Amino acid sequence: MDAKTTPGKAGSNTGTVTLTDNKTGRSWELPLMTGSLGPSVIDVRRLYSDTGFFTFDPGYTSTGSCQSAITYIDGDKGELFYRGYPIEELAEKSDFMEVCYLLLNGELPNADQMRQFVWDITHHTMVHEQLSAFFRGFRRDAHPMAVMCGVVGALSAFYHDSTDIHDPRQRTIASYRMIAKMPTIAAMAYKYSVGQPFIYPKNSLSYAENFLHMMFAVPCEEYKVNPVLARAMDRIFILHADHEQNASTSTVRIAGSSGANPFACIAAGIASLWGPAHGGANEAVLKMLTEIGTKERIPEFLKRVKEKDGHTRLMGFGHRVYKNYDPRAAVLRKSCHEVLDTLGVRDEPLLDLAMELERIALEDRYFVDRKLYPNVDFYSGIILRAMGFPVSMFTVLFAIARTVGWVAQWNEMIEDPMQKIGRPRQLYTGHARRHYVPVAQRG
Ligand code: ACO
Repeated sequence: MDAKTTPGKAGSNTGTVTLTDNKTGRSWELPLMTGSLGPSVIDVRRLYSDTGFFTFDPGYTSTGSCQSAITYIDGDKGELFYRGYPIEELAEKSDFMEVCYLLLNGELPNADQMRQFVWDITHHTMVHEQLSAFFRGFRRDAHPMAVMCGVVGALSAFYHDSTDIHDPRQRTIASYRMIAKMPTIAAMAYKYSVGQPFIYPKNSLSYAENFLHMMFAVPCEEYKVNPVLARAMDRIFILHADHEQNASTSTVRIAGSSGANPFACIAAGIASLWGPAHGGANEAVLKMLTEIGTKERIPEFLKRVKEKDGHTRLMGFGHRVYKNYDPRAAVLRKSCHEVLDTLGVRDEPLLDLAMELERIALEDRYFVDRKLYPNVDFYSGIILRAMGFPVSMFTVLFAIARTVGWVAQWNEMIEDPMQKIGRPRQLYTGHARRHYVPVAQRG
């Protein structure tokens, strides 16, 4: 099979690729589509009906599953834009509520829009009192991500009949509910695990402050949120807010493509995020650093990684898309020092170890040749641990931040006239047709 490209002008449908079957000599023209940034795509929607072939792409490494105007990543340049704005600018100048508005609506809000949006989110943070009863069904030592899957999925039972996904107003309300209630549910999962009473949301606090308050306050004394920690929390939320068509976002889109309840779709996204190759990586980074223990043991650990001993990987390194430094890791590396200084942590052995590990790995041919650089998770775990979060809560924090991305992508999908139910095809490698043999006649 040969493919020849005829380029066209930038636009949405530009140029063609000619596909030739060398066996039969037959040729087909496949349209090329061009976006506003990034590589063009070959439109294969009519491939099967026109040619009788499917494409084969496990892990979707070369497949665009949708068109999207929300987030853009250039993995080679190490660039990440939300609605066109570079992540570094947003992390420095904006705040999470503004970023949420931007991701959901496409533009930064004016002052009135911002006030209204913050008011709307703030006034949806309480959960139905009946939801509190769900927590009691879990063991106290349950992993909080297991609790999140269950409780967020259970929200669908509270808002099923009231959510018509084809009504934009109802979609907006569902989106606000999810963004607003996620910190409340996450903090409840934590409080339940340590046997402390749930702390209700407080409307005078910002999104990040409110979350820290619900996490760390107890009813018997005043809790003052440290502004530097609130800023660091807010920044972590910004950095994790969206990341185009990653595993959990694609899961939300696929689940939602059947018209399913949005709260159930977000629960599906949480399940996908939990895995150590995705959102579970910052938890895995801390476990790895603890296991390595001292700088002297780094070479021995890296040897095991390079020899591909079992499933040992350098956690927090490598990314499907970034083949250059992950821009989020660069922001967090800086934030890490600020947080540790504020908390008066002069010597954090894990940070020293992480920096040394990073230095050695970035000079090692194995990692250089494979373009493996630190990703966002390499430093986030160290910051979160210093802020007092238990390791098992790390992925939960990621889920809080990513909810706005999931919701924005879900809304975009519902509004997309090209949207169809997600239904990949396969290359079948099993038996050809054969006939049933009764058990007595089987050898
Ligand atoms: N440590 C050691 N080797 C690695 C690592 C790593 N962290 N990542 C990739 N490699 C190697 C692979 O073994 C493979 O080597 P080979 O060519 O000799 O077979 C090569 O690099 C390419 O790796 P793939 O697995 O094909 O890359 P893929 O794009 O599928 O994987 C992934 C990306 C899953 C993120 C991977 O780099 C990884 O497992 N990293 C560690 C986990 C992690 O930090 N995940 C967080 C991702 S960021 C996020 O979700 C927010």
